[in-house]
Amino acid sequence: MLRVGLIGWRGMVGSVLLERMREEGDFSGIEAIFFSTSNVGGAAPQESAGGAALQNAGDLKQLAGCDVLISCQGGEYTTEVYGPLRQSGWRGYWIDAASTLRMKDDAVIILDPVNGSVIQQGLAKGIRTYAGGNCTVSLMLMGVGALFQAGLVEWMTTMTYQAASGAGAAKMLELVSQMDCLVDPVRKTPSENALEVDRMTMQVQRSPSLPKQEFGVPLVGSVLPWIDRGMPGGQTREEWKGMAETTKILGLDPPVPVDGICVRVGTMRCHSQALCIKLTKDVSLRDIEQMLDGANQWTRVIPNDKQSTLHCLTPTAVSGTLNVPVGRLHKLNMGPEFLGAFTVGDQLLWGAAEPLRRMLRILRSHLGK
Ligand code: HSE
Repeated sequence: MLRVGLIGWRGMVGSVLLERMREEGDFSGIEAIFFSTSNVGGAAPQESAGGAALQNAGDLKQLAGCDVLISCQGGEYTTEVYGPLRQSGWRGYWIDAASTLRMKDDAVIILDPVNGSVIQQGLAKGIRTYAGGNCTVSLMLMGVGALFQAGLVEWMTTMTYQAASGAGAAKMLELVSQMDCLVDPVRKTPSENALEVDRMTMQVQRSPSLPKQEFGVPLVGSVLPWIDRGMPGGQTREEWKGMAETTKILGLDPPVPVDGICVRVGTMRCHSQALCIKLTKDVSLRDIEQMLDGANQWTRVIPNDKQSTLHCLTPTAVSGTLNVPVGRLHKLNMGPEFLGAFTVGDQLLWGAAEPLRRMLRILRSHLGK
């Protein structure tokens, strides 16, 4: 039986991963070993092999006893442990949610409904490091990857609406605290006058007492057009990942330009993106819709009408599901080769946990275990 070690399973992405693994019966047929950085020797989840206690996530020997390690512990942990573990001679498979190893030559970015063949080539070449992609890029490719695969994208801009969850659990909690503070004065002094209510809420947003330890600024009632650190040339790192990771995930040579503005909005766990795609040729909307709808079982084309859009193409409709709707498909005023689109996906599922558990499945079938 494959010995599979799990690290960071208690955090937000790790919890979603465990939930999904349970739902899909992924624990049957593997020997699951649970690691901890803070509670070594504590009780492990019921799936733990032989009911064993939590092992030490900092102990290279214990880690090296696993055939596969799945980490949701974060980039710092990967930076600390991965190098020494490999240097110690460990030749197991490392599956990681963090960005640390993504762009390394000997790592594959995993998003199998889109790049299953790249993953298979990696396995055949003996690659042993597999990293989940940036959530925004993964969700964009789940939505419109078929157009890239058909060679139909000359370039693309993506304007994002990214949920608080992408920045971590503490940010989600802070967003809700901010929401609570925002409505508090209106609760206390109800008013039917929109301008008066606006003044009250603006006062809260600008008040030093608004909880903003995490974001540093109010996200509630606002949008933050900056995610991650700055890069040379004026992009943010989140924006830089758009082209870098798309190229690597799909193995594009030459690369296709992808760029845009990444924006944090006050949603909880769904990232949305407005896309402008310059097609390599004029393709009919009907053909595009067929291509996208048939790409995989989770991508669904939403008819470009008001009712369908408002009911099916929003974070509210998608949150907590594996659906990746793509809609608002229409040709833009710039010409018949310019396609407008909007897509939504759950940042914690396809954007983080789901590709990891699927990689374990792929690996098991590759190894025949
Ligand atoms: N960097 C993303 C975000 C998280 O801030 O939303 C997922 O890769």
